[in-house]
Amino acid sequence: MFSMQAIGYVKSPYKQAREVPKGLGAKHEAEGVLEIFPEFELGLTDIEGFSHLFVIWVFDRSERFELLGTPPSDNRPHGVFATRSPRRPNPIGLTVVELLRREGSRLHVRGVDMLDGTPILDLKPYLSSVPPEQLRRGWLAEAEARA
Ligand SMILES: C[S@@+](CC[C@H](N)C(=O)[O-])C[C@H]1O[C@@H](n2cnc3c(N)ncnc32)[C@H](O)[C@@H]1O
Repeated sequence: MFSMQAIGYVKSPYKQAREVPKGLGAKHEAEGVLEIFPEFELGLTDIEGFSHLFVIWVFDRSERFELLGTPPSDNRPHGVFATRSPRRPNPIGLTVVELLRREGSRLHVRGVDMLDGTPILDLKPYLSSVPPEQLRRGWLAEAEARA
């Protein structure tokens, strides 16, 4: 077992899961605020230099997990670890956001897909080192081609 504590919460325009854009071509451009607790503010030192961040967070409103599920972007089932489903054995979410500005321990960001009040576990600078031509998009590319 592991024990973790939230380092802060997401302030998001989405109060309900159905409000978050879903499915093929869904764009995540909503702005929100990552409100980091004051005791962790020192850990934000130098974060302003990064354009994008990984936000690691908890699906705190997911109640169960499904090892196989049909995502909104396809009509075929896929394994949970081949999707970004909220119904996972360990309910951990990962979102890349654009850092717009920092106000002390508040980070204004674009690209939230979390519900308002979602607990944040960690932040890391986003650094992509995989050349686009080496990326394979699995069943998602097939679903996009069929659409
Ligand atoms: C498909 S998941 C992807 C989340 C993240 N980008 C990832 O890949 O881990 C996004 C969905 O999670 C759901 N969601 C967002 N915040 C949640 C929370 N705190 N608890 C449970 N479900 C949540 C919403 O329904 C949203 O449409």
